[in-house]
Amino acid sequence: MNVRHFLTLNDLSRDELHKLIQRAIELKTQQKAGTIFEPLKNKVLGMVFEKSSTRTRVSFETGMVQFGGQAIFLSPRDTQLGRGEPIEDSARVLSRMVDIIMIRTFEHEKIQRFAEYSRVPVINALTNEYHPCQLLADMQTYFEHRGDISGKRVVWIGDGNNMCHSYINAAKQFGFQLQIASPEGYLPDAQILAASEGYAALSPSPRAAVQDADLIVTDVWASMGQEEEQAAREQAFADYQVNPELMALAKPDALFMHCLPAHRGEEVAAAVIDGTQSVVWDEAENRLHSQKALLEFLIG
Ligand code: CP
Ligand code: NVA
Repeated sequence: MNVRHFLTLNDLSRDELHKLIQRAIELKTQQKAGTIFEPLKNKVLGMVFEKSSTRTRVSFETGMVQFGGQAIFLSPRDTQLGRGEPIEDSARVLSRMVDIIMIRTFEHEKIQRFAEYSRVPVINALTNEYHPCQLLADMQTYFEHRGDISGKRVVWIGDGNNMCHSYINAAKQFGFQLQIASPEGYLPDAQILAASEGYAALSPSPRAAVQDADLIVTDVWASMGQEEEQAAREQAFADYQVNPELMALAKPDALFMHCLPAHRGEEVAAAVIDGTQSVVWDEAENRLHSQKALLEFLIG
């Protein structure tokens, strides 16, 4: 049997991704209408978290409950994963018991190795290199507010991190033009960028990048695991805050997104994230609906 995984956005075709976003919008409408829909009755999602989480954990757990299934939270602190049991063995054992697995970890290579040995679908719930589940929610949110994102101008301001890499993948898969403004030393991976040539490009400055933008996105300056770099990063990113002056250079109806958690006064001014162009709460909610569509796609 050919098991499908979701380790990056490139694991699904363009057509599958577009259908998944439409399905997420449908599932959201159904849920809000109070319709009971339990396609995953008796199915179990194993959730491995090697890093903290609020949205990802709650959206996956809630999604499984709404679908009639169950989720099991696994932390390295109280499983053998944290005591050095090989990834290959953990993958073989867990995938003989549960129906689908999501993992939040450090090196992307770890989740690739896990998926190689898993009999069931594996979902990337964030690695140092990618955060594809967040992009499903972001794309759903854009489609809901503005319609098709293809041909639109999207701007990434800040760290060339896991979120930035997933935006680079999304640019090609969803057909938008991504401008990236990152300080020297914090640029996205050159190979990932090259793979989306014609869709994603570096911009010389935040001000140049946001001209005529339809969507502006940023993320924290120091990601999980980089806490000790916080002070150095605050200096490097000082000119990369998304504030009202920067937003004013974009299209008047441009949207603002942030995967959250956010640091007001650092990567984003409070006036922007709490302002009228911000759709961050819809974006956070859509983690639930888009991941339900993903679970249905991978298990169904
Ligand atoms: N955006 C996101 O993945 O949030 P959590 O870290 O709270 O899961
Ligand atoms: N770039 C952030 C995203 C958190 C959801 C991190 O990896 O910590």
